[in-house]
Amino acid sequence: PDNVGILAADVYFPSTFVSQEDLEVANGVSAGKYTIGLGQEAMAFTGDREDINSMCLTVVAQLLEKYDVPKDRIGRIEVGTETLIDKSKSTKTVLMSLFEDSGNDDIEGVTTVNACYGGTAALLNAVAWVESSGWDGRYAIVVAADIAVYAEGPARPTGGCGAVAVLVGPDAPLVINMKTRASYACDVWDFFKPDMSSEYPRVNGQLSQTCYLRALDSCYNRLAAKKTAAAAAAAAAAASAGDGEAEEGGGDKRAPFVLGDVEHVLCHSPYNKLVQKSFARMAFSDARRLKGTGKPLGEGQEEALGKWLDVPAEETYDDRDLEKALKAFAGVSSGAYRNKVEPGCRLSKQIGNTYTASVFANIVCLVCARGAALEGETALVFSYGSGAVATMYELHFRDTTAVTAAAAAAATPTFSVAKIAEAVGLSERLADRERLPPAELDAALAARSHAHALASSSSPSAGGGAGGGGFVFVPGFPLDRLFPGVFYLRGIGGDGVRGYGRR
Ligand code: ACO
Repeated sequence: PDNVGILAADVYFPSTFVSQEDLEVANGVSAGKYTIGLGQEAMAFTGDREDINSMCLTVVAQLLEKYDVPKDRIGRIEVGTETLIDKSKSTKTVLMSLFEDSGNDDIEGVTTVNACYGGTAALLNAVAWVESSGWDGRYAIVVAADIAVYAEGPARPTGGCGAVAVLVGPDAPLVINMKTRASYACDVWDFFKPDMSSEYPRVNGQLSQTCYLRALDSCYNRLAAKKTAAAAAAAAAAASAGDGEAEEGGGDKRAPFVLGDVEHVLCHSPYNKLVQKSFARMAFSDARRLKGTGKPLGEGQEEALGKWLDVPAEETYDDRDLEKALKAFAGVSSGAYRNKVEPGCRLSKQIGNTYTASVFANIVCLVCARGAALEGETALVFSYGSGAVATMYELHFRDTTAVTAAAAAAATPTFSVAKIAEAVGLSERLADRERLPPAELDAALAARSHAHALASSSSPSAGGGAGGGGFVFVPGFPLDRLFPGVFYLRGIGGDGVRGYGRR
C-alpha cells in the first residue's frame, strides 16, 4: 500500500479548565510566570468521574461515529498512555467493549508505555503493520491519551488532560514518511512514576528540559542527514540519467537540509516555552550543520550565533547568553516561528500537557487552523518521552481528491484534510468549555488522588464486585459537567473491576 498515514482524527478534552492567569493569582507567583514564563493560557482538568479508560472510550467512539467507519473494518488498535490504572489489563482491551455489537473481536494491538512517547510508538507500529506483508486490508486506530497531574509545586501548572484518536491506513491525507524518520534513545531518570499508589510523577524539571533538547538535536540532525543524503542520491541519479536540468540544479539539491525546507514544525508540548526554545534550537542546529559543510551561512546566522557554532553541544544547553541570542534570532516573535510553529500550538496552550497526546493534538490543531491549504506542505513532528525515547518524522499533507472520488463511488469512507478540520470543530468545542476557579482544580485533584489510592489498594475481600453492580468507590464529580456523549467511570468494585457509562 502507498501513502500510509493518518486518514481521520478526533480529539477529546474535558469541559472544565482553569486559566493560567487565575492560577498565577491563586498560587501567589509573579504575574506572567505561567502565561509568559511557561507560555501557557489554560489547563484542562477532570475530576474522579473520568479515568484513562473512559477518555479513550470517548475519543474512539467519537472517531468511529464522526467518520462513519464500519466497526468490522478495524483490524488493529494501539493505545499510547502513561496514565496507568492496571499493571496487566491494557486500556486497549477496555476499548473492545465498543466493538461487541459489531461481532468484530479480531483486533490486534495493546497499550504501549513510555512516558509521553507511547502514542508515537503506537503510530509507528500501526503504520508498519499497514505497510507489512501481514496486513489484511483493514484500518488501524491509534489512541494517545493522558491525564497529566503533578504534586503541588512548580510542575503543577504544566499539567493537562486530553486524548486523540487517529485512523491509520493507505491513501491518507496525512502521510507519514517512515524512511526519513530519526530516533534517539538513552537511559536517564528525568521523569518517572515509581509509586503505583500515586498518579504523580517524580520529575527533575531542569534535567527533563535538557534531555528533551538533547534528543531534539539528535533527531533533527539525523533526519537532516537522511534528507541531505536522499537529495544528493536523487541528484546523482538524475545526472547519470543525463537529465541536464537536474544536473544544473544539483548544487541546490545537495545543500544541507534546513528548516526553510519545511512549512511546519510540531513539537511535543509540555508547555509552550519549551516549544519556543526547541524551534530556536533547530535554527541553531541548522547554522552548525551549514558551518560543518563549509557552505555559506544563512542570513544573519554568523552575526547572531557565530560565537557558539564550534562549541561542543553539551556545553550549550545551560548557556543563558546563547538562549538569549537564539530567542532574538528565531524566537516566538520571529516570522519563521509565527508561520511554522504557532498555528499548531493553540490547542496545547489551552489544554496543557497531554503527554502522549500532546504532539497529536498539535497535528490536529494545525489541520484545524489551515485545512486544505496544507495540501502539498510538510511538517516535521518531534515526539519526546522521558526516560528517554524520541523520534522526529516528516508528515506530508496530501490532496486526496482523486482517491476520495473513487472511494465514494465504491461507497467506502472518504478522507481528506478538510474533512478532519470540519469533523474536529476545534474552535466551537474550546468555546464550549467551562472556566472554573483554581479551588475547583485543587478539589478535583484531591478527589483523583483519593480514588487512585483506593483503587490501588482494593481487595476482593472488600466485597462490592463491580460485576454484580456494587461499587466500593463511586465518583463524586458532577456528571452534568461532562460534555454530552462522554464516557464516564460509574464506579470501582472491591475486586478492582471498573464499570463505565455514557452520558
Ligand atoms: N514573567 C515572565 N517570565 C517568568 C516570570 C514572570 N513573572 N517568572 C518566571 N518566568 C520565567 C523564567 O524566567 C523561566 O523562563 P526561561 O525558561 O526562559 O528561563 C520560566 O518562567 C520558568 O521558570 P523557572 O523558575 O525557571 O522554572 P519553574 O520552577 O517555574 O519550573 C518547569 C518550570 C521546570 C518547567 C516545571 O514546571 C516542571 O518541572 N515541569 C514538568 C517537567 C516538564 O514538563 N519537562 C518537559 C519535558 S518532559 C515532559 O513532557 C513531562
